[in-house]
Amino acid sequence: MNQDRDDCESLAGSYDAAMADNEVAPRERLADLRRAIEDHNRRYYEEAAPIISDREYDRLFRELADLEKSFPELAAADSPTQRVGGKPLKAFGQITHRVPMLSLDNTYSEEEVKDFYARLERLLPNQKIPVVIEPKVDGVAVSLLYEKGILRYAATRGDGSVGDDITQNIATIRSVPKRLKGNAPDILEVRGEAYLDKNGFAKLNAERSKAGLPEFANPRNAAAGSLKQLDPAIAAQRPLGVIFYGTGALEGLALEKHSELFAELKKLGLPGTERWWVADSLEEILSAIHELDRLRHDFPYQTDGAVVKVDSLAQREILGLTAKSPRWAIAFKYEAERVETRLQDILIQVGRTGTLTPVAALEPVTVSGSRVARATLHNEEEIERKDVRIGDVVIVEKAGEVIPAVVGVRTDLRTGAEKKFRMPKNCPQCGSLVVKDEGQVAIRCVNSRCPAQLRRRIEHFASRGAMDIEGLGEAMVGQLVENKMLRDVAGIYSLDATTLSKLERMGEKSIGNLLAAIERSKSRPLWRLLFGVGILHVGVSGSRALANHFPHLDAIMKASVEELQRIPDVGEVMGQSIYDFFREPGNVETIEKLRGAGLQFNGEEKKPGPAASTIRGTTWVITGTLSQSRDEIAETIIAHGGKVTGSVSKKTNFVLAGEEAGSKLEKAKKLGIRVVDEAEYRKML
Ligand code: IVH
Repeated sequence: MNQDRDDCESLAGSYDAAMADNEVAPRERLADLRRAIEDHNRRYYEEAAPIISDREYDRLFRELADLEKSFPELAAADSPTQRVGGKPLKAFGQITHRVPMLSLDNTYSEEEVKDFYARLERLLPNQKIPVVIEPKVDGVAVSLLYEKGILRYAATRGDGSVGDDITQNIATIRSVPKRLKGNAPDILEVRGEAYLDKNGFAKLNAERSKAGLPEFANPRNAAAGSLKQLDPAIAAQRPLGVIFYGTGALEGLALEKHSELFAELKKLGLPGTERWWVADSLEEILSAIHELDRLRHDFPYQTDGAVVKVDSLAQREILGLTAKSPRWAIAFKYEAERVETRLQDILIQVGRTGTLTPVAALEPVTVSGSRVARATLHNEEEIERKDVRIGDVVIVEKAGEVIPAVVGVRTDLRTGAEKKFRMPKNCPQCGSLVVKDEGQVAIRCVNSRCPAQLRRRIEHFASRGAMDIEGLGEAMVGQLVENKMLRDVAGIYSLDATTLSKLERMGEKSIGNLLAAIERSKSRPLWRLLFGVGILHVGVSGSRALANHFPHLDAIMKASVEELQRIPDVGEVMGQSIYDFFREPGNVETIEKLRGAGLQFNGEEKKPGPAASTIRGTTWVITGTLSQSRDEIAETIIAHGGKVTGSVSKKTNFVLAGEEAGSKLEKAKKLGIRVVDEAEYRKML
């Protein structure tokens, strides 16, 4: 049985042909496996960009564990098999868990579940051993401490003993109570899995892909990425939830059985699992595992297995623990569904920064309940590594039940007619030569006037995550670029009714709406503009960091490379890229046109940080039209320790009033409650 990969926050290495060769001496093979696992862990946990499936990873891990067992003299304390987790991130404060967070042994085989149950019967002779079967939620393990019912802090697992302080980010999750309901125990260290729901994940990736940012491989990576955001306002925009399934330290509540916890959680207002079973025999365990497999696809969150746990806490006590995991539980992992289909072609997509991405055009096939005709192939190196050829029968798996990926090739079915693929030397959209940047795998079209790039750049600029110009979506941008009405993003602000009336299906009303949306976008905060202009490597957090650090866009444009690189959340690569962007005459010209159009170039007032915020402990009502959605503003207020309610009462401290505020503003005035506008609110942040 191997350790679950969720538990190793900084495991890692590339699985090359030599590693598959079992002829190599055990010592070398061990070293190769450890290096490979460390490398895969880094790609998975730090870069959120794994290149092998969980199943492949588990195979490597198991091989390493088996070899270490056969050659105990070669065991090493720093082997990935000896660690529960990785290093906590330095940027966060650290929290020591009151009770360590252990991991679970996991298996893909029913035979091993049978062995597990047989071992329980051996260790607890002549006893009934009821076990609970519950979903294994595929997210990130978290531990929350409630003291007398009040949320004190939240932490990641980290290395099992010490984790990262993620209180601010967890506090943005609406379903997680800050205060428990009912009779709260004196101390409750409650454990659960934070997840990003399936819909939210699909939406987030669609936005990222539109913005030219790398997509998350699965909801678990996306959840981990969200919880590790240094800026809670970004975490707040992600639809996160938590399913609680266990306790650490517990005082003031006596439980005899794990199954009692489900009702307790409910009473306290903590979300728990939708379904669980109690079984008294192996047959019942397997039947529950099978039933869960049928049901789990309809859960809003992703699951990858069933956890089987001894129900009686007294029996757990007798069974005890091994070094890293309890003897009273096991995780059974379901195989990801895989199907075979023909690779008809490899298409090239040109992104907004010019990156050429190969995409598999598949004979349509159904995987995990949905029709799949396209799958990502990442880059040329990946295609070579897997030896994927056009015409091959390929194996397609839905990574995390969501994104389809080509995970292998049926080389045994080759006819000889299959064609090797080469990335084109010219951009398929504009014909310009393509380049490969040093140290990068991606190939880019460097023609900044490439129409495909231009379209993507303008789509990104206008997208909801950036300047949020309603009505300027893919189809509209396509028409405008094709008709040469837009040649850069600044051109948006020169569009007029006469030009727009020449386009298909543009009546007076839609023209009016679009022009009004363009006008509104002029007052968006600077970070949105910085994100919108599409500087290579600069995402939302980088843009926010810039807008927070500098008083004005001019200061960013004049900043030296060193000055930029010193900003936390920017760093070396991003700093250089920002510097280069503003040395490009075409970009400076666009910025000057945007200045001429009257866009907001002022940075944000310096934030003292959420802890020192004047918002902490205050209650807000938001009303009227503001530059961000009310939900987004509410999340920011919550992230700064405030509360947001729907109606104005004597308990309200501030009413944030935008344009066209109505009855709530009236009521606030009547009750003498302080009304602030958006500028004042931003100052308070
Ligand atoms: S119990 C001492 N129950 O899967 C064992 N874990 O290694 C505590 N997980 O570390 C874990 N769903 O992060 C438990 N219903 C569930 C779970 C669950 C997901 C995670 C957890 C754990 C890992 C397995």
